Amino acid sequence: MNFTKSFISLLFMCLAFNCNQQKESINKVMIIPMPSEQEAKSGYFVLENSYHLSANEGVDEAAIFFSDYLESIIPLKLDPNYQNKVEFIKNGNIKNDEGYHLSVSENKITVEAKTEKGAFYAVQTLIQLISSDAKSEGVIKIPCVEIKDQPQFKYRGMHLDVGRHFYSVDFIKKYIDAMAMLKFNTFHWHLTEDQGWRIEIKKYPKLQDIAAYRNETLVGHYNDQSQQFDSQKYGGYYTQEEIKDVVAYAQKRHITIIPEIEMSGHSQAAIAAYPELGCTGQQVEVATKWGVFEEIYCPTEETFAFLENVLDEVIELFPSKYIHIGGDEAPKKRWKDSKFCQELIKEKGLKDENGLQSYFIKRIETYLNSKGRQIIGWDEILEGGLAPNATVMSWRGIEGGVEAAKAGHEVIMTPTSHCYFDYYQSENEDEPLAIGGFIPLEKVYHFNPIPEGLSKEEANYIIGSQGNIWTEYMPTSQQVEYMAFPRIIALSETLWSSQQQKNYDDFVNRLKYFHQRLEDLNINYANHLYEIEGDVISYTSKSESSKIYYQLKTLIKEKTIRYTLDGSLPNSNSTIYESKIPITESCVINASVFDDDKQIGKVFSKHINFHKAVGSKITINKEPHKAYQGSGNWGLINGISGSNSRYGDKEWLGFWGEDIEIEIDFNEPKEIKSIKTRFHNGNGQWIYAPKHIAIRIILENGGVIANKFIPEEGNVNNIKNIFWELSEDKIVKVKKIILMIPNYGTIPEGKQGAGHKAWTFIDEIIVE
Ligand code: ACM
Repeated sequence: MNFTKSFISLLFMCLAFNCNQQKESINKVMIIPMPSEQEAKSGYFVLENSYHLSANEGVDEAAIFFSDYLESIIPLKLDPNYQNKVEFIKNGNIKNDEGYHLSVSENKITVEAKTEKGAFYAVQTLIQLISSDAKSEGVIKIPCVEIKDQPQFKYRGMHLDVGRHFYSVDFIKKYIDAMAMLKFNTFHWHLTEDQGWRIEIKKYPKLQDIAAYRNETLVGHYNDQSQQFDSQKYGGYYTQEEIKDVVAYAQKRHITIIPEIEMSGHSQAAIAAYPELGCTGQQVEVATKWGVFEEIYCPTEETFAFLENVLDEVIELFPSKYIHIGGDEAPKKRWKDSKFCQELIKEKGLKDENGLQSYFIKRIETYLNSKGRQIIGWDEILEGGLAPNATVMSWRGIEGGVEAAKAGHEVIMTPTSHCYFDYYQSENEDEPLAIGGFIPLEKVYHFNPIPEGLSKEEANYIIGSQGNIWTEYMPTSQQVEYMAFPRIIALSETLWSSQQQKNYDDFVNRLKYFHQRLEDLNINYANHLYEIEGDVISYTSKSESSKIYYQLKTLIKEKTIRYTLDGSLPNSNSTIYESKIPITESCVINASVFDDDKQIGKVFSKHINFHKAVGSKITINKEPHKAYQGSGNWGLINGISGSNSRYGDKEWLGFWGEDIEIEIDFNEPKEIKSIKTRFHNGNGQWIYAPKHIAIRIILENGGVIANKFIPEEGNVNNIKNIFWELSEDKIVKVKKIILMIPNYGTIPEGKQGAGHKAWTFIDEIIVE
């Protein structure tokens, strides 16, 4: 036997074994949110029969939480003489209260934290290190690793509206568990709405008997041309006992619950129960459809007494520092028409109804401050003057948050552009009905709650961010889960991990692995990992006119995409997508993902209309709103029309309250026959087609042709069309087309959003 050779091969085997083991172990360290520092090591800490658990006072609750979790997987005995040891150490040198150090070696797990909270997050990390197979295999294997971790933001929130739809206590606990798993620390529980009051207030029994129930509910989308109702009484509320139980449950998971009691708007249900709280005193009903309602609290002494009594019971139930008092979407019509309000404005020396809103909120703030609590309000509370100690939840954009931070107020960023998980997450037309908008996973992942342009000191006022789940279109808890997951997972990393650490491709890989965990937890997540996304891209070089390509991608890049361009369905022999597809004429792209020969996922289909403006230069005098930038200005001439039903996709552009002017500049003058475009007109979402538009055509010979148009109803719901067919004798060649599109103006009384500026949404400008 050749000793040297066999020694080397033995050594090699060991190395190979070690290497495999290390690879396997490293693969298993896939934590979300990504820890601040982590180093995967080889080997596992193995739990099979017994282990030794020790904990210092001050981190012992986390130790018990962990041991309860372990024992829910397999039966284990605690044995102080056993060699495998789990140790929880209180370490006052760890700076961040929520931070922790975790060390897993083959016979010891050490958790170090300054507080129970930090130790609890270490436990959440440990839980994520345990494989789903542990139960069936009867053994728990935790890969060896060293982690040092702490969050970026101190406010990491998720919201849930239980007014539009009502969910069981069991579901609320499941939601809290999911938040804790992802290291969120705040649950914003939106408890009162026009469509239902959901918290028992003992002093006001009609809130339970009347305000908690509506007679029926809107079916389908608010914007459907003829609204339908289900004729079914709907409602419910949480008893105070249930709320105490939920608060205690959340506390054990280091989640603070911030209750929201809406005022002065979104209060129609309360006014239905106690009409004297409104300005007219007239009986109204609990709202049966969605939107913003004119019935708001009248700022009388009687109303303040009611709200103070309600808040007295609320603060008994919720120990949170903050109480959310709403403040959003309060139309001032009732206050304008009320003699009482007008006299109050004069008596208090207020400027107008916004001043009265500010007076209202300040009074409530003073009351809550006197009870040792602080208020949070939606960004409308800035209008008319901010209450002195208020925290602002910036939702209509980031601007309110910036203004508040500059004024030295704490801010929570929840803009509709990134944090509204009630918006669509995929462009697939099969998605379940949602309110509108479009916020895909990637957009949430790339959100940075700190806007550019703030000084370091101002940025310190941005305490974090929150995902909002408004539930108009979520009648079941499964639907809430579908809308929340996986976007909540992306937000967890946005809030916990540093901007520098974030890497979307790496996140998506970890998400794929995380799916098993969601399945184990019976969470109905949306899975778009293998869904094809398409984008037109354009390259312009100085020497030639723009070139158009179509790009296909999936979140997970490991599978094959096959496609056709002739309208046929893709099969296992179709062309494999390797790089962007050059587009030189109109076509239909059909594509699908294949795992070897097997098609997985749906067929993606896109019609490209290679009309005359595609590839031209486009300029718009105003930026589209951040929430509705589609695929940029160029999206209006990229050959792809937007959805007939959704204005929030990659093709429509949305502008809020602005007159816009669009200029299309052909690289080479072209003969044209017609120009058409269309506007969304979903009035329920404050979207109005313009009353008229003007189009000017600049000809090659310097001549100008102009015309004015009134957008007209077509055969698609909520869309208005413009079509200009040019008489051939007038056209030589066209250099430029200019569209002048005035905003619709102020939304009329009686409509959703009355008194606000309307939105303008425009789709592809098709030039033939
Ligand atoms: C809101 O979305 N109305 C705060």
